[in-house]
Amino acid sequence: MATPYIITISSEKGGVGKTTVATNLAIYLKALQEDLPVTLFSFDNHFSVDKMFRIGKSQPAGNIAEFFAGRPLRELIELGQFGVQFISSHRDLAPLRHSLQSPDILTRLLAANDLPGVIIIDTRPDLDPLTGNALYAADRVIVPVKDMPSLENCRNLYAFFDQHGLSRKALQLLPCLIDSRVRFEGPFKDSSQLLKAYAINRGYRCFNGHISKSPKVDSLNTNPEGKIYPILTHGRGTEVHAQFTQLAQQVLDDFRMERNFRLDTVRLETGRQEVSRAGALALRKAQLRTDCALCGRTVIDSGEIAEVGYYWEVNDGTAAGMLDEGCFSASIFQHFFRSSRELPADDPLRELFRESTQRSYFALCQPPETRGHFRQQLAFYRFDDEGLMLSRKVIDPPASPGQLGRLLELIQDDGRRLGEKFLILRRVDSDFADAILLEENHLRLRQATERITQQLRPR
Ligand SMILES: Nc1ncnc2c1ncn2[C@@H]1O[C@H](COP(=O)(O)OP(=O)(O)OP(=O)(O)O)[C@@H](O)[C@H]1O
Ligand SMILES: [Mg+2]
Repeated sequence: MATPYIITISSEKGGVGKTTVATNLAIYLKALQEDLPVTLFSFDNHFSVDKMFRIGKSQPAGNIAEFFAGRPLRELIELGQFGVQFISSHRDLAPLRHSLQSPDILTRLLAANDLPGVIIIDTRPDLDPLTGNALYAADRVIVPVKDMPSLENCRNLYAFFDQHGLSRKALQLLPCLIDSRVRFEGPFKDSSQLLKAYAINRGYRCFNGHISKSPKVDSLNTNPEGKIYPILTHGRGTEVHAQFTQLAQQVLDDFRMERNFRLDTVRLETGRQEVSRAGALALRKAQLRTDCALCGRTVIDSGEIAEVGYYWEVNDGTAAGMLDEGCFSASIFQHFFRSSRELPADDPLRELFRESTQRSYFALCQPPETRGHFRQQLAFYRFDDEGLMLSRKVIDPPASPGQLGRLLELIQDDGRRLGEKFLILRRVDSDFADAILLEENHLRLRQATERITQQLRPR
């Protein structure tokens, strides 16, 4: 699977030259290495990238918001001028910004795609969730700085990297919009040198050179055709042309030297997480009792789970297993609802019970108010999906508990008395019984157990 090198252009300060760097760097990279795939993403809601690269009046193949909705990159990428690829921008990215709760979503989406070469991401002058995602994915972050306030703002970018455990080495400052006519007396001759001195003093890394301010470059955005012209074709006479060539060469060298691409690291990490998830599932499965704790029938044979209806766990997690659906409902009916007759599988009462158990947790235990009393009682609780109590039924412990007795042994102490332990039960779909053991489902069960434990404490 191909791994792209990801370059994010970011600065919280507006108008420092981010879009100019993103778009022109793409063109200069292509000029230096024609066969290098270069793809531009714009996380801003203006259409500079589209205006500069779209050939003719072709309809966009899709847009950046669709990429976040899960559409594959190959369906969205458009081949543009100078051989630069791009994804069409989107006018309203606000809803997307709200839905990107976590900074690793873009990284995961890119890791799932197979795009070679270099991706350049232009961002908004704001550390919003979209920019955060672009920073999180980056092998290299180019930070244009044009003055002291923009240098001050770099602090937040470094803080973001520290906060997410990312290597600061990815961040590199580039003095931009430098007016070369302004000269200083003393050791620093111009504002680029001064900015770099401040930057280095703070431990920030900088690119060699800078990008000068040029009236010619500024004019490339404004023309009767409403186009944005590239520096390579329309600003060759300026010093900025040579500066962009130097910048692209540095970026290309870094790209060629890079041994640990960010996406490879993330893919490896994700792979490891999946392996450990699969390991945790296998372990939980291996720890299940192989028989039904009510009737003793073998329900798990060589890791295969037979037709079952309920999952149970002792609240402290020390034992777990599966129960036959019929055994459980028969025991509950017999002892808690005084139904003496054996109910056939299609009995409406059993059917009703089965349905009502879909989104519930059950608990079997001694009711908290009788704990420590000589006279024991037994309670059957029903809780909702969140673990909040819906109903409870209390009975005297049956004189001849039958199958239920075996189940209760799981929570009795050595003197066969009920104590603080309880059984938590959850209905399972017999075709996917082990789904309850999957990380996220089991975590939900543990959380519900936690809440149930609080409600079963003596007051
Ligand atoms: N080297 C340059 N010389 C002169 N003008 C420049 C240069 N680079 C950019 N500009 C001009 O500065 C303005 C801001 O540039 P640009 O849009 O690239 O900045 P930006 O950081 O992307 O802004 P925003 O934060 O609004 O997205 C534009 O009008 C652009 O034409
Ligand atoms: Mg911009």
